[in-house]
Amino acid sequence: MNKIIDGKMIAEQIKNEVKEETARLKEQGVRVTLAVVQVGSDPASGVYVKNKKKACEYVGFESLSYELKEDTSQEELLALIRELNEKKEVNGILVQLPLPAHINEDVIIKAILPAKDVDGFHPENVGYLSTGQKGFVSCTPAGVIELLKRSGISISGKECVVIGRSNIVGKPMAALLLREDATVTICHSRTLDLKAVTKRADILVAALGKPKFITKDYVKEGAFVIDVGIHRGADNKLCGDVDFEDVIDHVSAITPVPGGVGPMTIAMLMRNCLESAKK
Ligand code: GUN
Repeated sequence: MNKIIDGKMIAEQIKNEVKEETARLKEQGVRVTLAVVQVGSDPASGVYVKNKKKACEYVGFESLSYELKEDTSQEELLALIRELNEKKEVNGILVQLPLPAHINEDVIIKAILPAKDVDGFHPENVGYLSTGQKGFVSCTPAGVIELLKRSGISISGKECVVIGRSNIVGKPMAALLLREDATVTICHSRTLDLKAVTKRADILVAALGKPKFITKDYVKEGAFVIDVGIHRGADNKLCGDVDFEDVIDHVSAITPVPGGVGPMTIAMLMRNCLESAKK
């Protein structure tokens, strides 16, 4: 096993699998289409949206792009979602988050048809995940599970600690690890003795959103570390929630930033979209 888990390579494998299957579907006359909606011009969201559209092109999906102005009203956005829900040729609808403050994200997410909710954010899909039924799963945590499996890291029975309790990463991550028969703990900003808990982890997932916060004091020797964070440091370089240089000699394996979890999110989005088209 490589000590540095190559998310870019594994994501490439998954995208190639999706690409092959998309070509087969095309021969049967089935096209796959993802609608990507962005409101406003947040530069980070702009980069993510561009990468998602590029991945669509790579795997052979059609992508419909909606770039709406910052002052778009909630009603206008809801009207677009209703239109996309009804469009037969649209298999997946992705509304890039965060949305401007005047729009209620929960209302928007609930408006997306669960069968087209390739982000896995709709409460119906979240409910399916927590009750062990089939449904779309949030792409980043799904990508983490895929990274672990394809790197030969077994999850069953392991002590897994997730730092962060967001709806997009922390909570679905914990549910997925539990589904894989791990013993799961979720930590967050109010956890009293964070180090004591994280040091128990055989597999540590850092999704707390603080650059280079996790040093080797937080990590058990020989642990597997998954870094979900992405930040631009003062030196203009990308870094994660984990202080990579500090922990590298202390761990069994770790995902780098960039090139770890990030590419997996997009690969899993492509897979969700393909699944939607197959249904
Ligand atoms: N913003 C940050 N991550 C995500 C994601 O996975 N999907 C969407 N729609 N927005 C995001």
